[in-house]
Amino acid sequence: MSITILAIESSCDETAASVCRDGRILSNIIASQKIHEQYGGVVPELASRAHMQNIVPVVDQSLLKAGVLLSELDAVAFTQAPGLIGALLVGAQFARSIALALDKPLITVHHMQAHVLANLIDSPSPSFPFLCLTVSGGHTQIVLCESPTLLKVIGETIDDAAGEAFDKSAKILGLPYPGGPLIELHAQSGNPKAFNFPEPKIPGLDFSFSGLKTAILYFLQDEVKENPAFIDQKLPDICASIQYRIITILLNKLKKASLQTGIREICIAGGVSANRSLRSALKETGQKYHWNTYFPSLEYCTDNAAMIAITAYYKFKSGDFAAKDAIPTAKATW
Ligand code: KG4
Ligand code: ZN
Repeated sequence: MSITILAIESSCDETAASVCRDGRILSNIIASQKIHEQYGGVVPELASRAHMQNIVPVVDQSLLKAGVLLSELDAVAFTQAPGLIGALLVGAQFARSIALALDKPLITVHHMQAHVLANLIDSPSPSFPFLCLTVSGGHTQIVLCESPTLLKVIGETIDDAAGEAFDKSAKILGLPYPGGPLIELHAQSGNPKAFNFPEPKIPGLDFSFSGLKTAILYFLQDEVKENPAFIDQKLPDICASIQYRIITILLNKLKKASLQTGIREICIAGGVSANRSLRSALKETGQKYHWNTYFPSLEYCTDNAAMIAITAYYKFKSGDFAAKDAIPTAKATW
C-alpha cells in the first residue's frame, strides 16, 4: 500500500508544508518570516500572526507542487513540540481540521526527532545505529539513533544552543537576526586563528556556550575601548574566530561520543548544520577517524516540513497515530 502524507511545520518563524509519498519528498514549501529581522530575534505574537496568513497558501502550494489532491492523503502530520505555543497552534489546528474533514489519521511529530531524521531523506543515508549532532537555534544535542523511532539524547547543552551562540555573537557585532548565516558569510574572508576564544571544560557529552558569548562580549568591549573602529576593521577575523571555536567545541564532543559508543555512522542536523565550514570540518574529521559522515541537503537543515513528513512516514509505518484532538505540548516524546 502506498502512503501519502501532508506535513505541516510551524514551531517558530517558518511556515512550512510538505507532501511525501512512501518516504519520497514530493514538495517542500517554506514561507520565511522576514519581519523578525528588525527585532533581533523571533517575536512570538508576530510569528503566530504570520503563520495564520501563510498557512493556507503554503499548504495549497505543497499539494499543487506534489500533484496530490487532498482526497489522496493517507494521513496529516504536524509539529507538536517543542516551539512557540501560538505558532505551534496554527499548524496543529490546521492539520487537525484537514484530518477531521478527510477522516484520516493524525500524526504528531517532535521537531528535534524530525531534524535528526532529515538525514534519512536523501541517499545515501546513515545505517543504524548512528549518532546525530543536532544543532539548531534552541537545541544542541548528540542523539543516538537505534531506529527511526528509537532515539536517545546522550549529550546536550546546559545553557545556550550552538545557533544561539552564533545569533548572540552576531547581535553583539551589530548584525541582524538570524546571525548564523551572516557570521558564516563574513568568516569566509577571515582568519579563524586570529583571535583565540576559550573552549569550555564541560564534563561528559554535554555542551556549554554561554561562557563563549560572555568572553566574546568582554573581548570586544576591551578592543573597542582602544579602537572604536575595531569591529568594522576586523569583522571577517572576528567572525572566522567565533565560527572556528563553535565548530571545534561541537566536533570535540562528537569525537568523544563516537569513542564512547563505538559508533562511526555520524550525521549532523538542524539550522547550524547548513554552515559550510561545519560541514567540511565534519568531513575532514570523518576522514581522520574513519567515520561515514552525512548531512542533510541545505533545504532540510533549517526548519522545514519535509523533515516532519519523513518522520511522520516512519511513525505511520509503526502505527504510531495521535488522537484526533491532539494539541501542541510543552514536552512531547519521540
Ligand atoms: O533548526 P533551525 O532552522 O531552527 C530551530 O529549530 O531553532 O535553526 C536556526 C538556527 C539559527 O540560530 C541560525 O542562526 C542558525 O540555525 N543557522 C546557521 C546557519 N544557518 C542557520 N548558523 C551558522 N551558519 C549557518 N549557515
Ligand atoms: Zn528547528
